[in-house]
Amino acid sequence: MLQHLLAKLVCSSCKGELAQSDTALQCRRCQAAYTIEHRYVSMLDRREQVDRPSDWKRKEGEIRDYSEIANSLALSGIGRFATFLNYGYVPIGNEQHAVIEPDEVWNRNSVKLLLEVAGGTAIRERDVIDIGCGRGGNIAALHKYFKPLSLVGLDICPSNIAYCSAKSKLTEASFLVGDAENIPFADDSFDVALNIESAHAYPNRARFYEEVYRILRHGGVFLYTELMLEEQVEQNVRLMEEAGLSVIRNQDVTPNVLLSCDENAKQRTGAQGIANNANASANIGDIDDFIALPGSRKYEEMKDGRRQYRMMNLIKR
Ligand SMILES: C[S@@+](CC[C@H](N)C(=O)[O-])C[C@H]1O[C@@H](n2cnc3c(N)ncnc32)[C@H](O)[C@@H]1O
Repeated sequence: MLQHLLAKLVCSSCKGELAQSDTALQCRRCQAAYTIEHRYVSMLDRREQVDRPSDWKRKEGEIRDYSEIANSLALSGIGRFATFLNYGYVPIGNEQHAVIEPDEVWNRNSVKLLLEVAGGTAIRERDVIDIGCGRGGNIAALHKYFKPLSLVGLDICPSNIAYCSAKSKLTEASFLVGDAENIPFADDSFDVALNIESAHAYPNRARFYEEVYRILRHGGVFLYTELMLEEQVEQNVRLMEEAGLSVIRNQDVTPNVLLSCDENAKQRTGAQGIANNANASANIGDIDDFIALPGSRKYEEMKDGRRQYRMMNLIKR
């Protein structure tokens, strides 16, 4: 799969053609250098450390936090079950879009979240990218329920991608280290782009939305969920529209996510598994807040409306 993926990549920064050796890729145009590891490729352009040091610092923080979570999950013995890093979703009486009922016992609410954001989108036999794929749970569930033609999981954290690459046996799926703001694929490469609970961490959200628009084919769909401050919702919609994406669904599903947070608080895997096993993660300040446990600041802000969990579908017309 790695050779197959390498053939499709372009320079993360200038989208130029890449020259390949056994252990590296180099852009023929701007000379950016990338590394080929044992099982995966890292497409981070490290020149950002110098060009945009404050953005890079935030991204390094994400890499550090998720590496610590990966380490503590590996030590805990539940690592192989903990394939999602999101709050999950529980259906209640409000508008529902999922067209499939999952059979999972473990991580059921996370699979529900995916099926809900996907709704009736055409995914079968399509090319799909999961941006901020974490530990690959969404890629596995997409394969199981929709049978896409190809699946790419991209994440900035090498520990996550090492985990996905080692765990996944799917011949249709490939994983790479990369930055959502600088996606190393050519224009018009995908039919569906998925992004679940990741974009809050991107310093330049407008740049991310432009990248999503660029890599989607005409008619391609962006499936997007994010916890946002209430006052940021309109601003994000504006940025997506300025990037060229048209909103076809924009739903507040905060009550469904809060219910899932309540359930997670009682379980060993999913978000609660992370909380139980993240004691070694000294750098992740408030782990309860990180996973929105009942009583945490994030949970309470969702309850009182200051934060909204938005579920959106957008289309490149
Ligand atoms: C809360 S987790 C969600 C993971 C996954 N989407 C899921 O639903 O399980 C956020 C993920 O976004 C990734 N991430 C953060 N900043 C990123 C960036 N600039 N580019 C790509 N991935 C990023 C993190 O490494 C982490 O795996």
